[in-house]
Amino acid sequence: MQNNNSSGNDQKFQVRKLEVSDKSKGFIELLQQLSECDSVSDKEFEERFQELSSLGDDHVICVIEDDQLGKIIATGSVFIEKKFIRNCGKVGHIEDIVVDSNARGLQLGKKILGFLTEHARSKGCYKVILDCSAENKGFYEKCGFKQKEIQMVKYFI
Ligand SMILES: CC(C)(COP(=O)(O)OP(=O)(O)OC[C@H]1O[C@@H](n2cnc3c(N)ncnc32)[C@H](O)[C@@H]1OP(=O)(O)O)[C@@H](O)C(=O)NCCC(=O)NCCS
Repeated sequence: MQNNNSSGNDQKFQVRKLEVSDKSKGFIELLQQLSECDSVSDKEFEERFQELSSLGDDHVICVIEDDQLGKIIATGSVFIEKKFIRNCGKVGHIEDIVVDSNARGLQLGKKILGFLTEHARSKGCYKVILDCSAENKGFYEKCGFKQKEIQMVKYFI
């Protein structure tokens, strides 16, 4: 799968929105490379897919498929939050960026992030934000992000 021809990869690997058939192309297995993600039944997947689809452009999950393998090899999502501050401004929250371990280093992560960032900009967001581990800081900096503030969390489970 490795291919150092970046313009070739640009043509070969297009970003598109998640489709319901992507479950059978390894979408859940890809998310398992990011975080704990139990198996999801077809019914559960379809229900969640419909729920998210009803949010339209306010919640977008995008993917890159390797057409030769029929496999989803990169994904990420953005959720658009509507606020009162900043003249009823909007903020894009980027989440769940992951590239298949066999396809890293091909600029696919950057491509996914660019797609999500551009989506948020086109929908009128004044900024996009995300959380990441220290080891991925350099990746996001290469994609034009900068560190600001700190993350706080409280888990319920
Ligand atoms: C982090 C991740 C998404 C990067 O995806 P990728 O497709 O391999 O990255 P890209 O090829 O698009 O890299 C873009 C640039 O960032 C650099 N880069 C990639 N990962 C980096 C890292 N961890 N630290 C510093 N720089 C990094 C690349 O060298 C490249 O630099 P260049 O433009 O000068 O060539 C991928 O490694 C991954 O899926 N990791 C596991 C899941 C994860 O941690 N996701 C992030 C959740 S916050």
